[in-house]
Amino acid sequence: MKVSPSLLAADFLHLDREIEMINSSEADFLHLDVMDGVFVPNISFGFPVLKGVARECRVPLDVHMMTVSPEKWISHVRDLGATIMNVHQEACLHLYSTVQHIHEAGMLAGVTLNPATPVSTLSDIIADLDLVLIMSVEPGFGGQPFIPHTIDKVKALKQLCLASGSKAMIEVDGGVNEKTGALLASAGADVLVAGSYVFGSKTPHEAILSLKNL
Ligand code: DX5
Ligand code: ZN
Repeated sequence: MKVSPSLLAADFLHLDREIEMINSSEADFLHLDVMDGVFVPNISFGFPVLKGVARECRVPLDVHMMTVSPEKWISHVRDLGATIMNVHQEACLHLYSTVQHIHEAGMLAGVTLNPATPVSTLSDIIADLDLVLIMSVEPGFGGQPFIPHTIDKVKALKQLCLASGSKAMIEVDGGVNEKTGALLASAGADVLVAGSYVFGSKTPHEAILSLKNL
């Protein structure tokens, strides 16, 4: 299993310490939640903060854009040196073009689905995607309970990928811990995002390892 700890749950007063923890861990990615207070009601951090994070972080960056018009931020995300740029299906009027532009910027393209958005909405674009990020909570806040129906969505997405020959990774975000992570692993998830479970732990390296070993 790949693990992408979400910086949203970190101690923002000590980001240098938190990034050092990530650098010395088994994490595969660092998940960065960008919010605009419009697409989601909350605001997290913007690009001035992310530039500092990107300078120190040696783990590949997995950027989750929770903004309207995420296509406007493609060059900013590229300039961070990000590996993955995730945009919400619900925020993109022209999803096909946005995915092409993310690829042209040299990044892996991920499309995110809110809990009420069905997997079938991606059937005409799945072959072009490197990753699909399934939200297992409503986006915008950490620490929410996992929505159980997500397990069926992961299974449906796995079927869609197999049927279409897509190699897209399946990532899940929200309420992930050792228990929900185990269910997601058997349903076919490839990458688990975890905020509170990792950064809220007294032993974050072990929390990361416990998900990696699923
Ligand atoms: C929520 C964010 C998540 C969040 C997950 O909108 O997309 O990445 O940090 O937090 P936990 O793991 O605490 O549910
Ligand atoms: Zn996220």
